[in-house]
Amino acid sequence: MLRRRFLLLAAAPAAVRSAGDEEKVWREYVEWYRRQPISVTDPRRSYLEHLERSGLGAAAIQERAKVIERFSIQRREELHPFFFDRTYSSGTPRFNAGPNSLLAEAVRDKAPGRALDVHMGQGRNAVFLASKGWQVTGFDFSAEGVRAAEAAARKAGVSLTALVRRHEDFDFGRARWDLVVMSYTWVPLREPYIQRIVESLRPRGLLVFEHLMDESGSEGAAAWLPKPNQLLQVFGGLRILRYEDVRASADWSWRPERIARLVGEK
Ligand SMILES: C[S@@+](CC[C@H](N)C(=O)[O-])C[C@H]1O[C@@H](n2cnc3c(N)ncnc32)[C@H](O)[C@@H]1O
Repeated sequence: MLRRRFLLLAAAPAAVRSAGDEEKVWREYVEWYRRQPISVTDPRRSYLEHLERSGLGAAAIQERAKVIERFSIQRREELHPFFFDRTYSSGTPRFNAGPNSLLAEAVRDKAPGRALDVHMGQGRNAVFLASKGWQVTGFDFSAEGVRAAEAAARKAGVSLTALVRRHEDFDFGRARWDLVVMSYTWVPLREPYIQRIVESLRPRGLLVFEHLMDESGSEGAAAWLPKPNQLLQVFGGLRILRYEDVRASADWSWRPERIARLVGEK
């Protein structure tokens, strides 16, 4: 305990005076954050309690709290991969761990080919497709998600290519995929991503999309949540085979939600 306390206090700056000190405070918080189980729902408060238990004085904790609060807004995106790492390393999934039902229906009568699972998470859809004979590539920025997908594929006796990538850097290719899966993805529904995705489909290739819908109408809403009818415009270059705006149970929510579903063909 004493040793832990010493290590913590030795690592942290005595007072937060410079940009370098602030950086160090933030880095230490991020390191701590990514190791916490998903049951820690208010990480900032839990971290301050952790500092208190480690013997840091009230004034120093106060200083760190201010930095962490400011950076948590300015650098929110930095925490996203770690949030999903925490989600996927939890023993109890907080989402439907089976394949997405729209996807299962959309490929039922389609001959398997090359599939891309965008933001594959822990691979629930990728493993399903691979077990149906598809040659699957998936990517996600959560290293834990990709690790879980690889483990699930091994367990199911199928092979897939699972990559730790951000969609911002991923090379979708041109006319490469017979199927692109966007299941509860965080890809902003705007250019350049949508064009990249549509261009990456082969002729007759399918795009399968499902997500919670943004009902707030607010400017600040997450750019990856479709607004009513937005998918019809965004994927207007595809032949729309199916479009639904329904209230139903969602793979990534505990309660019925308004969901948008789209299946389009190139
Ligand atoms: C709600 S989950 C959906 C996961 C999976 N498609 C499914 O349906 O279970 C969103 C996923 O997007 C990933 N993600 C979010 N932003 C990303 C980015 N910029 N690049 C790569 N992956 C990202 C997260 O790590 C997470 O696995």
